[in-house]
Amino acid sequence: MSQSAQTVLPYDRIRAVEWERERLKLIDQRLLPQKSEYLYLDNLPDCVKAIRDMAVRGAPAIGVTAAYAVVLAARDRYRANPEDWQAAIQEDLKLLAEARPTAVNLRWAVERMRRVIDGGIQGDPAPPLLEEARRIHAEDIAANHRMGELGAALIEAGSSVLTHCNAGSLATGGYGTALGVVRAGFAEKRIKRVYADETRPWLQGARLTAWELVQEGIPVTLIADSAATYLMKQGRVQWVIVGADRIAANGDVANKIGTYMTAVAARHHGVKFMVVAPTSTVDLQTPDGAAIPIENRIEEEVLNFAQTHTAPEGARAWNPAFDITPAELIDVIVTEKGVVTNPDREKIAAMMKT
Ligand code: MRU
Repeated sequence: MSQSAQTVLPYDRIRAVEWERERLKLIDQRLLPQKSEYLYLDNLPDCVKAIRDMAVRGAPAIGVTAAYAVVLAARDRYRANPEDWQAAIQEDLKLLAEARPTAVNLRWAVERMRRVIDGGIQGDPAPPLLEEARRIHAEDIAANHRMGELGAALIEAGSSVLTHCNAGSLATGGYGTALGVVRAGFAEKRIKRVYADETRPWLQGARLTAWELVQEGIPVTLIADSAATYLMKQGRVQWVIVGADRIAANGDVANKIGTYMTAVAARHHGVKFMVVAPTSTVDLQTPDGAAIPIENRIEEEVLNFAQTHTAPEGARAWNPAFDITPAELIDVIVTEKGVVTNPDREKIAAMMKT
């Protein structure tokens, strides 16, 4: 097992992204839960395609994948042109950064790798770049472990929680953000049950969150997205816990489509709303949620269900992949640097400075 794949805590056995024998190994998330199959990638275009096609998805997992992809690109560019690989790799970095628009971790990881390139590398660039990619990966797992502790400490013993999309091991370097809190909270007996929104249209909740929690032996109950408000009305959950694709400077959060309606319903019913994300997801350059680019995906994802056309011919679909939850609907944002209650611009800035 590679260093970045080491597991140290209970309920921490799944890794979606690994560096193995000079290649990138990704669990193909499009096939779960029916099949656990791996992709082995040894060049940048295949990594870009894996991100675009969502073989790997989830903001931090995309960032870690991008970091390793830069190693592969540098290796190929250096072999082709040892004198001028730095110029040639620029178009690779651009392609990679643009593979998906909303998750800021992708750009963040590319910029970290770029800093190593710009720092001046003598000879073969692969070893120093691999060192940085491994560091990004290990830091992400460490951040998740820390956020797990911090987030779980906020939850009263015996609680049940609702989560949306998949913000677990599969969506990160390992352990997960929202599901990191779930893992720590379950280990400490603070959380007794997890309700998972199925998360139409891509079904990250049904296919990935439920799979991940079943693998770990954490009790999970799947609900249709439209059942979430009634679940809250019945007092079955005390917290909603989600991840983020980007947190703007004022604390507004972009996350999987449906997060916003869940936050509105949570506030109405007095259910607490927690966003868990590493500081690599915080984008101080983006002033507020309105400035976050939202990915629009193909209509077929909505018009079809499990490869079957469920809508009448001629119907169109609108398929935004993310929405914005305004800061005022969020009770706490948990990062590896600490817990921000009732987030706003000043508190986010202060947290980022620590
Ligand atoms: O389209 P996806 O599956 O990449 O969207 C993922 C999410 O919205 C996650 O909640 C988010 O990236 C946080 S993952 C720790």
